[in-house]
Amino acid sequence: MRRYSMAEDHVDVLIVGAGPAGLMLATWLAKCGVKARIVDKRGTKIFNGQADGLQCRTLEILDSFGIGHRAWRESNHMLEICLWNPDSNGVIHRSSRLPDTIPGISRFQQVVLHQGRIERFFLDAINEFSSGGVAVERGVLPMSLEIDQSCVEDPEAYPITANLRHLSEEDATPKQSSTMSNGLSSQDGLFRSNLMADDTADLLKTSELNQKANTTETIKAKYMVGADGAHSWVRKEIGLKLEGESTDYIWGVLDIVPITDFPDIRSRCAVHSANSGSIMVIPRENKLVRLYIQLTTTSKIQGQDSRTDRSWITPQVILESAQRILSPYKLDYRTLDWWTAYQIGQRVGSSFGVHDRVFLAGDAVHTHSPKAGQGMNVSMQDAYNLGWKLSSVIKGHSNRSILKTYEFERKAIAHALIEFDHKFSRLFSGRPAKDIMDEEGISMDEFRDAFQKGNLFASGIAVDYGRSLIVTKPVAGNGASEATAATTSTPVTGIQDLAPGLKVGQRIPSVKVLNQSDARPWHLQERLPSNGTWRLLVVPGDVSQPGQKSRLEKLCGQLSSPESFLRRFTPNTARYDSVIEVVTIHGAPRQSVDVFDFPEVLRPFHEVDGWDYEKIFVDDQSYHEGHGEFYKTFNIRRDEGCLVILRPDQYISYVGKLDDYESADRFFSEFMLPQNNLTLPKV
Ligand SMILES: Cc1cc2nc3c(=O)[nH]c(=O)nc-3n(C[C@H](O)[C@H](O)[C@H](O)COP(=O)(O)OP(=O)(O)OC[C@H]3O[C@@H](n4cnc5c(N)ncnc54)[C@H](O)[C@@H]3O)c2cc1C
Ligand SMILES: *[C@@H]1O[C@H](CO)[C@@H](O)[C@H](O)[C@H]1NC(C)=O
Ligand SMILES: *[C@@H]1O[C@H](CO)[C@@H](O)[C@H](O)[C@H]1NC(C)=O
Ligand SMILES: *[C@@H]1O[C@H](CO)[C@@H](O)[C@H](O)[C@H]1NC(C)=O
Ligand SMILES: *[C@@H]1O[C@H](CO)[C@@H](O)[C@H](O)[C@H]1NC(C)=O
Ligand SMILES: *[C@@H]1O[C@H](CO)[C@@H](O)[C@H](O)[C@H]1NC(C)=O
Ligand SMILES: *[C@@H]1O[C@H](CO)[C@@H](O)[C@H](O)[C@H]1NC(C)=O
Repeated sequence: MRRYSMAEDHVDVLIVGAGPAGLMLATWLAKCGVKARIVDKRGTKIFNGQADGLQCRTLEILDSFGIGHRAWRESNHMLEICLWNPDSNGVIHRSSRLPDTIPGISRFQQVVLHQGRIERFFLDAINEFSSGGVAVERGVLPMSLEIDQSCVEDPEAYPITANLRHLSEEDATPKQSSTMSNGLSSQDGLFRSNLMADDTADLLKTSELNQKANTTETIKAKYMVGADGAHSWVRKEIGLKLEGESTDYIWGVLDIVPITDFPDIRSRCAVHSANSGSIMVIPRENKLVRLYIQLTTTSKIQGQDSRTDRSWITPQVILESAQRILSPYKLDYRTLDWWTAYQIGQRVGSSFGVHDRVFLAGDAVHTHSPKAGQGMNVSMQDAYNLGWKLSSVIKGHSNRSILKTYEFERKAIAHALIEFDHKFSRLFSGRPAKDIMDEEGISMDEFRDAFQKGNLFASGIAVDYGRSLIVTKPVAGNGASEATAATTSTPVTGIQDLAPGLKVGQRIPSVKVLNQSDARPWHLQERLPSNGTWRLLVVPGDVSQPGQKSRLEKLCGQLSSPESFLRRFTPNTARYDSVIEVVTIHGAPRQSVDVFDFPEVLRPFHEVDGWDYEKIFVDDQSYHEGHGEFYKTFNIRRDEGCLVILRPDQYISYVGKLDDYESADRFFSEFMLPQNNLTLPKV
């Protein structure tokens, strides 16, 4: 399975762990052409069970890598959530029906598909992007890690030395099948469950005894990322700890094809029974339904790795518990696909890496209960945040200083997640109040409100990064956190009011815009694929007005100068749009102008391909798909316009005046590295 010979032991990035976080990172690096290796101690990928859902932001991200449609097509779409709780006689009844994803926040809605399929999509993308050069090396695990601190600040250095051991196939394959008491075979997820003692040490030992597979290899790496899950070996190696709560919840998870008269089994449901606890129902693909039930709580001494005896937890125990909660409705099954028992506390790493050389992502740096239903989403999004930054530094486009923004941005998210999880778990697990005098019980109105608020958080759309080198938020105001001392802040501040709907720090929302040249409608985000390129969004308003037209021309004059940031930061040998792509969305009626009315820098000429017709879009009525209303939706004036800078991960860095070339130049100059010594920046 190995793709590299022993001699080739220098890599840009070594990724440990091929779960959702590791695979997302490998996808980014492959897309950007960075030399990476990704190893996983397991011999197999997951086939059933495990994490299940994808929130709408995660789908947007998958789509930006060209794999969103596969998840969208194969998954079960969850459109509605039903809340059930006891009536005055203590019998459960449906109390609300709500949209599961807040309408209008994304062009996708929440879907459910098991982790194994999602991992498959990533594996295919990695293979395609790297032309087979990067593949997950299974049955391989690191045994030692050394960091040469004397050269961590040298961008060209390989300060990391890691020893890898190759296991035999037998050692690397967990036993995962078990035969159920009803005679049907099923798979359980306990081998990966953290209720089992971590087996890294055992695997290392076994391999020592196995002559055939006992080979080791030394790797020198510029960067290393521990995406190796909640037990993270990398985390321990660099001496970081998770901090937080001392209460662990134990959850039972059952994936079954239900036979039931419960009417809402194909909706997502939160059911609170009067005295038998709560259940979360998640309808899935292939007629499956997942039931999440909190079985018990264990109080633990902080930091101590005590594991509860789980031998009493069986599918039968989980089923019976579900039957009690759903009574008087009946529930049974003939098909059991997967089950697990899952113990989790709410913890966050004190720091997300060391020396900006070794980083942690995903469960390796934060854990929380499955009820917040965020594990895979947040893990993938950690890696999505980190991937382009690493690529850009490795390729020599950006200063290493941007790497500090990874911890700054993602730690805040991890803390928000834990807080959300904490609140939600309490509400979900508590006994419903019998009446308003019942102060110990949970008020169902409170639950519903929390649920609706939680939905926005859970969607991933609300992520709002604080001011830093790459986010030009105003210093104070709207609760935005400020850059920590460790993070260099940008000297640039834009003017948010020019586009109130395009919030600096958040991902750009998407509406349809038309190709000026051929009238085809596109969702804006579809034109912003994740490939490491920054975007300068030129929003000139109504260019049929002379005022706006001349402001646009002034801007374009500066953009096309040989000293412009477009030229300085793009290697002479690279395509003109590979580092910063200029995309225009104008607001004049489409038929009142044509592409050649726009300055050349907005539709550059290529000696083989001719003029570039892919860069100019218009906010106008389409022939078949309505009007996207870009200007109206985001509150941008057609007689004013604006300039927007988008990061390679679609987050908004800057909103400013259409003709304020200087601010944009200063923004990029703060962290981008000049590529051509012929055209040095003017001071
Ligand atoms: C049993 C179980 C059930 C779960 N059920 C749900 C659920 O129902 N819903 C939900 O939302 N979330 C669930 N989760 C959480 C969800 O799976 C995680 O949040 C998500 O997978 C985190 O992704 P990750 O990439 O950070 O880590 P992981 O998915 O844990 O991936 C880590 C990878 O690293 C590898 N690895 C570990 N140590 C080493 C090492 N030393 N060397 C090499 N490789 C190593 C592992 O083999 C693994 O492939 C569950 C987790 C577990 C363990
Ligand atoms: C396995 O490799 C290690 C180090 O390379 C060596 O010390 C050990 O003797 C080997 N074990 C076997 C069984 O070959
Ligand atoms: C991702 O987020 C959605 C929306 O909150 C949630 O339903 C789903 O379970 C999450 N997925 C994982 C694997 O955590
Ligand atoms: C990177 O930025 C730091 C300040 O944050 C500066 O000291 C250093 O010289 C820069 N490196 C390069 C190569 O420009
Ligand atoms: C990224 O995609 C854009 C099109 O959206 C393209 O213009 C640009 O050249 C691509 N970047 C790279 C590095 O290929
Ligand atoms: C826009 O239209 C031109 C002309 O048909 C075409 O070449 C180009 O690919 C289109 N671009 C997009 C993004 O639709
Ligand atoms: C840029 O400078 C380097 C070293 O200073 C030199 O080797 C290289 O030839 C120069 N490149 C160009 C295009 O001038």
